[in-house]
Amino acid sequence: MSELKGKTAIVTGASRGIGKAIASVAASLGINLSIAARQEGPLKEAADEIAKKYKVEVLAVACDVTKLTDLENLVNKTKEKFGKVDILINNAGVSSQYPFQEQPMEDFERLAHTNYLGYVRLIRLVINDMIQRKQGAIINMVSGSTLCDPLPRNFLVYSSLKVGLRAFSKGLFWELRDHGIKITSILPGVTDTDLTGKLKEVTGNTSRLMTTEAIENAVKFALTVPANVCPLEIAVINQQTPWTAPVIPFKQVHPDK
Ligand SMILES: NC(=O)c1ccc[n+]([C@@H]2O[C@H](COP(=O)([O-])OP(=O)(O)OC[C@H]3O[C@@H](n4cnc5c(N)ncnc54)[C@H](OP(=O)(O)O)[C@@H]3O)[C@@H](O)[C@H]2O)c1
Repeated sequence: MSELKGKTAIVTGASRGIGKAIASVAASLGINLSIAARQEGPLKEAADEIAKKYKVEVLAVACDVTKLTDLENLVNKTKEKFGKVDILINNAGVSSQYPFQEQPMEDFERLAHTNYLGYVRLIRLVINDMIQRKQGAIINMVSGSTLCDPLPRNFLVYSSLKVGLRAFSKGLFWELRDHGIKITSILPGVTDTDLTGKLKEVTGNTSRLMTTEAIENAVKFALTVPANVCPLEIAVINQQTPWTAPVIPFKQVHPDK
């Protein structure tokens, strides 16, 4: 994509955590923002904070990504204010940790609608304008847990939906290869946010968790590489992430020692 200053990005789930951090990165590049989350108060606070700090325009749109009408409203409000959507950063997400046999039925729907369907629908709502203009960038927040096979125990539904999202993103890049659109999946390791704050065993030792800094750098890279280069997937994993614990305990010792 050419000069980023003055472009417009939608960032979902930008009221806190990873979303707020990467919205701030986009703002630091001079990109105007339309940010979305369900709770209006924290969203407006984030919008004011980012606008003041980076001197860009930030629109806050209360939006539940599980609802198609909210997604349509988000795109319409963004276009009313900024005229177009140059960049979409799909980030809103929820997690849950259950042995599968105990996971409530309604949890499946919540996860599928937030972490998969919401992403696909929002892309569908902005993609035709990007195709027409032959430019655009889409970033999807996937998860480092998709690198594990078999998937991490107690996170099967969450992680398998992220695997689906990862496959969808890559396939979409091939499908749209003639239209000059960058599509990037970011695969973060376990990061210290509200989302992980509630997870048992994962956050016992917070020194093992990443901060958002590496994800911010990954997003900056994805946005700033030339339009004819697409970083398809960027995995930023902390070495001590709980997912990468060896199945058979071992100690790494250099053969010379
Ligand atoms: N933290 C990690 O370790 C980690 C690792 C890998 C991938 N990820 C992914 O990174 C993304 C962000 O995670 P995070 O750790 O930053 O989570 P977080 O701190 O809990 O923040 C989640 C954000 O999404 C919004 N949100 C949640 N449900 C929504 C909905 N239905 N509609 C609109 N907005 C919604 C929240 O605001 P409201 O509650 O006000 O809606 C909030 O702004 C998620 O997709 C997650 O799966 C996280």
